[in-house]
Amino acid sequence: MAVNDFIQSNKDRFLNELIDLLKIPSVSADPKFKDDVFKAADFVKESLIKAGADVAEICPTAGYPIVYGEKIVDPSLPTVLVYGHYDVQPADPYELWDSPPFEPVIKKTKIHPEGAIFARGSADDKGQFYMHVKAFEAMMASGELPCNVKFMIEGEEEVGSDNLDKFVIENKEKLKSDVILISDTHMISMKDPSITVGLRGMAYMEVEVTGPNRDLHSGTYGGAVANPINVLCKMIASLKDENEHITIPGFYDKVQELTAEQRGRLNEAPFDLKEYEEKLDVDTVFGEKGYTTIERVGIRPTLDVNGIWGGYIGEGAKTVLPSKAYAKISMRLVPDQDWHEIAQLFEAHFKSIAPAGVKVKVKSHHGGSPAVVSDTSVGYKAAEAAMEETFGKKPIPTREGGSIPIVALFQKELGSDPILYGFGLDTDALHSPNEHYGVQNYLMGIETIAAFFRHFKALSDQS
Ligand code: BES
Ligand code: ZN
Repeated sequence: MAVNDFIQSNKDRFLNELIDLLKIPSVSADPKFKDDVFKAADFVKESLIKAGADVAEICPTAGYPIVYGEKIVDPSLPTVLVYGHYDVQPADPYELWDSPPFEPVIKKTKIHPEGAIFARGSADDKGQFYMHVKAFEAMMASGELPCNVKFMIEGEEEVGSDNLDKFVIENKEKLKSDVILISDTHMISMKDPSITVGLRGMAYMEVEVTGPNRDLHSGTYGGAVANPINVLCKMIASLKDENEHITIPGFYDKVQELTAEQRGRLNEAPFDLKEYEEKLDVDTVFGEKGYTTIERVGIRPTLDVNGIWGGYIGEGAKTVLPSKAYAKISMRLVPDQDWHEIAQLFEAHFKSIAPAGVKVKVKSHHGGSPAVVSDTSVGYKAAEAAMEETFGKKPIPTREGGSIPIVALFQKELGSDPILYGFGLDTDALHSPNEHYGVQNYLMGIETIAAFFRHFKALSDQS
């Protein structure tokens, strides 16, 4: 049976298996889910074996394991390395989900009239990396696997991939490949397919501001002693000026400016600002002066508070002047910003703007480098041809605002530009309640990946 026939006749099973994987709450950020994260790793290993891998192993790390699998048809054939992650973001706040996050359901939506699977991790990244497992299975079953294939599926991407660098550096031979495929990004839409060629990096910080040595009565002391929450808010507000430009000295020193021509091309991508605003229910967009929304997300760095807390947040009112205030602050970075350097600049600046009367502590959580990948490589050309075949339209290269720290590491350590072959949409609600992944995106992704293998083999033979 031909690959596409096999996919069509097995599509219900392919969906049901993904649903089984989505039922495992593999939240890497929360130790409460530790056993489930390990369980998801086992599930991935078993799936690779069932799909036809010769090798499928759980590789322990200091944190959650990396699942490695391979099928070497013939060492002289090109080899494709697939990277993905089986861990997911926390599902909180649970009360904002229309159905429980780990009880997947298929529902029709305006954007997905043929249905979408609603569950945490459906698009990020279980539904996306699992397309590769199913494409591999379909190619094996139809006797049409034209390349060797290796899988490296990790369990710590959503918490910064702390143990992955070591694994990659120590296993260069094992991971040797001719191209790396990653499906963990978006396309513009089903009618405007695209391939991501840029991702932002990140520096994630946490700050603590301490005022008096204990919580105080806000009547007895209010107005006479610095309130750390008020102070923290002022300090945070000062991190951007009236043009939404970040005020940390040296922050922009290494930012690559694009030429007018490059910016022009980036802005040619289909983008409906009105629709973007409507979908988010905001009356207008917002951001750094002088840049379009596509540019603000794709080629400009930014700084956002991800959480802020302190004082009394329980029921009713309590008149307290708190002793401490905290915030988690992350910065999205662009080439050639170095996240270690940016973390240091942030720390020095944040401490320098602390007023008298408070003490400030700054901690760096994790980070990752930004990356730009080639759109002229043999791998990119094969990815482009496969998408054109299945979607009937040549994909547009885009730059996205999210981060996948391993991409820059792959470039540095394995000398290879990964293909960011995502089939999700930006409306899939990644990291939000009601995350979902289109059934059609899943099935077309599987077909496109199988087509990629065929095109990659053909183009590699020619080059
Ligand atoms: N799949 C995302 C990355 C992504 C999202 C790329 C949207 C392009 C568009 C990935 O799983 C993710 O969320 N990464 C984290 C990385 C961080 C924890 C270092 C992110 O971007 O916040
Ligand atoms: Zn992801």
